[in-house]
Amino acid sequence: MRSLIDILDLTVEEIDELVNTACDMIENPSKYAECCKGKKLATLFFEPSTRTRLSFEAAMMELGGNVIGFSDAKNTSASKGETVADTSRVVSCYADIIAMRHYLEGAPMVASLNASVPVINAGDGGHAHPTQTLADLLTIHRKKGRFDNLTVGFCGDLKYGRPVHSLIHALSRYEGIKLVLISPKELALPDYIKREVIEKYNMPCIETDSLENALPELDILYMTRIQGERFDDVNEYERLKNSYVLNAEKMQCAKSDMAVLHPLPRVDEISVDVDSDPRACYFEQVFNGKNMRKALILKLLNEVQNCARGNEESFVESKPCNNPRCVSNVERGLVSKANKTDDGFRCAYCESSINI
Ligand code: NCD
Repeated sequence: MRSLIDILDLTVEEIDELVNTACDMIENPSKYAECCKGKKLATLFFEPSTRTRLSFEAAMMELGGNVIGFSDAKNTSASKGETVADTSRVVSCYADIIAMRHYLEGAPMVASLNASVPVINAGDGGHAHPTQTLADLLTIHRKKGRFDNLTVGFCGDLKYGRPVHSLIHALSRYEGIKLVLISPKELALPDYIKREVIEKYNMPCIETDSLENALPELDILYMTRIQGERFDDVNEYERLKNSYVLNAEKMQCAKSDMAVLHPLPRVDEISVDVDSDPRACYFEQVFNGKNMRKALILKLLNEVQNCARGNEESFVESKPCNNPRCVSNVERGLVSKANKTDDGFRCAYCESSINI
């Protein structure tokens, strides 16, 4: 069954196709109003969410389909000890497609290996968030008309910010992308993404802790929230939480057509005086996200062939994963597995480096 676990599960051509469909959905919503009639989407959200869950639900309703699901795992069988594998097998009997958000990294991957319907990763721990990337890409397309030859700054929590990880993976496939990584060193981008994406594809990349210095060069500024819930040390969060604040004064140093993106929710990292600036795109991004999710649901439901996830056959058994937030350390009966990469082995579920 075709699922979306990682943004690279989609080819560049498929991303273009989704962008085109989403643009048509924006122009002609009524054309699509019944195309998922009789189909059900299950939203299984084991971690707090407002926009992503509502966005999926609104998307399915606008396609004429129905929605079942939960937003608070405390009320589910998971709280009785049910595995992700069992939950996804059970829900496959009730729904035609699943959107899963989970605090464990790799949980939607486990679901996709066990469900008999498509599974969409709606965010797994600090790992990945491919449908946010689809929202980001449609926003970039509508603002810039291209995905290549852009200088893109990522600012804030690049360590735990899963939308950052997925968007950098997506951008690595386009020509002429320059990255500017703006963060305190404690919240720098994980090394595996630096090595296996930025270095592997020779993406020009500058690291800095100064937003002010970086701002004038950027075509796109991707602001992020410092992810307090993922810190082990609350004092460290308190120390770093106000590292960056974009405000109207700083915007004066930016290009006149720079686009400011943010996956939301924001805390204090973008002050409200930026909202009225035409370069602020974060609320349009929410609208774009709903339309890309509509296009994605339609695509996955239309792909009837029963294809396994592409890289499943290449998994090898491994020692347990070192990442305490990895699903393989929690899920009963799940065998630790690894994927061979140019840079050694990585956990098949959460992508941490692993010994086999
Ligand atoms: C992001 C997420 O959940 O990772 N939000 C979202 O999906 N729109 C970003 C965040 O929580 O900071």
